[in-house]
Amino acid sequence: MTDRYAVFGNPVGHSRSPRIHALFAAQCGQDISYQAILAPKDGFAAAVDSFVATGAGKARGANVTVPFKEEAFRIATQCTPRAQAAGAVNTLSFDSGVVLGDNTDGAGLVRDLKHNLGCDPGGRRVLLLGAGGAARGVILPLLLENPAELVIANRTEETAARLALEFARLPGCALGVKPDGMGFPALVERQFDLVINATSAGLSGAVLPLPSFLFAPRCVAYDMVYGRETAFMIQAREAGARVADGLGMLVEQAAEAFFIWRGVRPNTAPVLAALKK
Ligand code: ATR
Repeated sequence: MTDRYAVFGNPVGHSRSPRIHALFAAQCGQDISYQAILAPKDGFAAAVDSFVATGAGKARGANVTVPFKEEAFRIATQCTPRAQAAGAVNTLSFDSGVVLGDNTDGAGLVRDLKHNLGCDPGGRRVLLLGAGGAARGVILPLLLENPAELVIANRTEETAARLALEFARLPGCALGVKPDGMGFPALVERQFDLVINATSAGLSGAVLPLPSFLFAPRCVAYDMVYGRETAFMIQAREAGARVADGLGMLVEQAAEAFFIWRGVRPNTAPVLAALKK
């Protein structure tokens, strides 16, 4: 029987996950099905239950996208430490009544940076822009790479300060570096080697108030958004940075989920190339 997987979101029609997982499955010789499921905004848990209960073949797992990642964290019966730290789940595994929640977003970002872009966060001065769900999901994996520093900057300064403090106090985690939280004005005269945009400003076309001095020579500027050129990317390129969008992160977080479910790590390079076409 074919094992079943799905991605839940609202909207979900734009999701590239079904194509990515179909390419991984073909490459790795895995017999799986993977569908996109539009869950009602107030009906995520019921949609997951119905997916698990009905259909030919066993439901083994699911990806979760906007706006359900926090709710997925709540319905999981167990969570990995990185999902706990993120407070959000993008990967569910179903096994004999256990619903295991994981979060592969940060691992996907780090892998894209290191393996596809040749930009190891280790030893670099890293700036994370934004303090919402997208930012929270990548902080622990970034810290575990031992950057020289990690600054979280946000339009609302208090949110960044609170988030930084939360991760600085993370229990049971011997992190070499503690994050700092601040507002955008405090970035004046500071420089970073890696600047990651995790705000949703790009979706509305808003320009972030970033000084061009911020981007150190050979800086990599990474926008987690994909499929469009954001104001951040334009700003960063004009300041001399090397710019990347979040397509590689999307493929790498999917590869990490595929590995969790199937125990095989797909080769992401041909899949990324196919999506770029
Ligand atoms: P997501 O899950 O995508 O992170 P979110 O939790 O709503 O969405 O967080 C959005 C983030 O983008 C926040 O950090 C937000 O800043 P505030 O905390 O000040 O609201 C940031 N953001 C959204 N629009 C922005 C804009 N026009 N300029 C600067 N930051 C913006």
